[in-house]
Amino acid sequence: PKRVTLRTLREKYKRGEPISMVTAYDYPSAVHVDEAGIDMLLVGDSVAMVVHGHDTTLPITMDEMLSHCKAAARGAQRAFLVGDMPFGSVCKVAAELVMAVEVGPEHAVRSAIRMMKEGGMDGVKIEGGFTSRARSVAAVVEAGVAVMGHVGLTPQSISVLGGFRPAAQSASEALRVIKEAKALEAAGCFSIVLECVPALVAAAVTRELGIPTIGIGAGGGTSGQVLVYHDLLGMMQHPHHAKVTPKFCKQYSAVGAVIQEALTAYHADVVGGHFPSEAFSPYKIAREEAQQLL
Ligand code: KIV
Ligand code: NA
Repeated sequence: PKRVTLRTLREKYKRGEPISMVTAYDYPSAVHVDEAGIDMLLVGDSVAMVVHGHDTTLPITMDEMLSHCKAAARGAQRAFLVGDMPFGSVCKVAAELVMAVEVGPEHAVRSAIRMMKEGGMDGVKIEGGFTSRARSVAAVVEAGVAVMGHVGLTPQSISVLGGFRPAAQSASEALRVIKEAKALEAAGCFSIVLECVPALVAAAVTRELGIPTIGIGAGGGTSGQVLVYHDLLGMMQHPHHAKVTPKFCKQYSAVGAVIQEALTAYHADVVGGHFPSEAFSPYKIAREEAQQLL
């Protein structure tokens, strides 16, 4: 299959064709995403929540992300692969500094290069719209790595935001998001994710930019859409575990219920002595050989 490249994406964008993106974190999910014809595959740091069971995206490490990237890259032959730069892989604070000041973009460049060389990614996503972020983006692009931006709700900033809340709900906040998106475009981003912003704001950002916007919880006026694999498949059907499935996510299946039913049936078969039956006992020993065992 022909690989999706930045050129493919740019052509789609110019023709006004919507771009599709989904997360995947391992070999089987990447095969599924690839086979569906989805344009971009994001190894998102949402893996921290939907796979590792954390309450936020903050705990996932660079090494853990790289392990997910490698597995996903083995399963995807066609989709453009984007690796999420995890919390702590862009900004690093020098211990000797009193103020929390970004130590230049070297750390971000090093992390991005690991995503490419070790993780097998085609590009990276860097979260946040702070002015310092645009500097890191520019340095990473300069190093030869395609960068996707991410503004609006930025889960890695949960500590300073005070929780997961939709963004850009006032005129001043909306203007800031537009300004951040433009700065990220100027810094060299090939595309920008808009997370949980009103549809009108996302459409305004999309009009302002000359690169594709990819929305999640941002309405239908963006250049493309992204969803989290486990959320769109309905992986978690248990009321006491399903706390993170967001309102904007359409569940295209109830895979969790299918998995639960299968596991429950297997358990019942083993406990009831119905598995394995003769049909699932394929390995035979000749009768005369068996007699020597008795
Ligand atoms: O980590 C992730 O899944 C993401 C998407 C929600 C854009 O960043
Ligand atoms: Na993310």
